[in-house]
Amino acid sequence: MAPWSLHDDALGSPRVTASWSRRAETKPARRDEVAASCVHGGASGGTARSLDDARAFPSGSAWNPCARSGYNHAPVLPPETLIMELSQAIRERGSVKSYDPDHVIDEATLRELMELTLRTPSSFNLQHWRFVMVRDAELKQALKAASWHQSHVGEASIDVIVCGKLAAHDDAERIWTEAGEDVAAKMTPMIGGFYAGNESLQRDEAIRSGSLAAMTLMLAAQSLGLNTCPMIGFDPKRVSEVLNIPADHVPVMMITLGKGTSAARPSGRLPMSEVVRFDTFDGAPLS
Ligand SMILES: Cc1cc2nc3c(=O)[nH]c(=O)nc-3n(C[C@H](O)[C@H](O)[C@H](O)COP(=O)(O)O)c2cc1C
Repeated sequence: MAPWSLHDDALGSPRVTASWSRRAETKPARRDEVAASCVHGGASGGTARSLDDARAFPSGSAWNPCARSGYNHAPVLPPETLIMELSQAIRERGSVKSYDPDHVIDEATLRELMELTLRTPSSFNLQHWRFVMVRDAELKQALKAASWHQSHVGEASIDVIVCGKLAAHDDAERIWTEAGEDVAAKMTPMIGGFYAGNESLQRDEAIRSGSLAAMTLMLAAQSLGLNTCPMIGFDPKRVSEVLNIPADHVPVMMITLGKGTSAARPSGRLPMSEVVRFDTFDGAPLS
């Protein structure tokens, strides 16, 4: 069987507490229950509330069905804290390049942001991503210097460095044991064989997973009333030195995160008819 066909194993993907995760409690996901109980149904309506109000609703309180179910992706903040719906977040996100340097993002908001971000899919659920959230002023200045002095790096509340683990397949056994030891026994050697010795594939996957997570993070941030700018304009070697990123992890992207003080520059897009085709690369355009 081809390794990728096991992505759809009948037991479903496991939910895993990685070594960096905040929660110890994990259970295999039951998709029916998750779908029924974990929709952020109250997010719409445009009635933004203070994020501070949310502290009155700890994640285990009655409003939170996900917390009751014990799954590890329960919302940290009450659903109405989300400021906008996904389609609005997608339309309104832009690369913001100036920030209020005094704005502090509280930890409840950060946890919600990262709970949402960690729902990102990854190949074999290997979750290659690791996030370094730089809020220390001196470290931010060091990152700015490593980023050709781009001013938003110094101003943002947090510079998020999304890293990708190259040998994420080493985690396969730990991850897939959540789906049962028999599944892990089948999956682990298969995943190992798929990636072992193939350095370019390992790098592709680290960057692919990290990039998907970066996009989730940016949209989640937008939905929480924060602004972002994705960045690759930095010296990865220097950033790795400054932040102690080990050699077996690649810095995938930097994301400035904070309260914007000016709107993103308007950015156009190529016409849909040029970039979307039916059936074959040279097929009929969608226009
Ligand atoms: C991979 C990547 C790298 C980027 N690097 C930088 C960067 O180093 N500095 C910067 O100011 N913007 C950077 N950007 C932002 C882009 O310039 C911006 O996304 C693009 O112009 C489209 O604008 P929008 O994000 O406002 O829609 C980067 C974006 C991506 C996706």
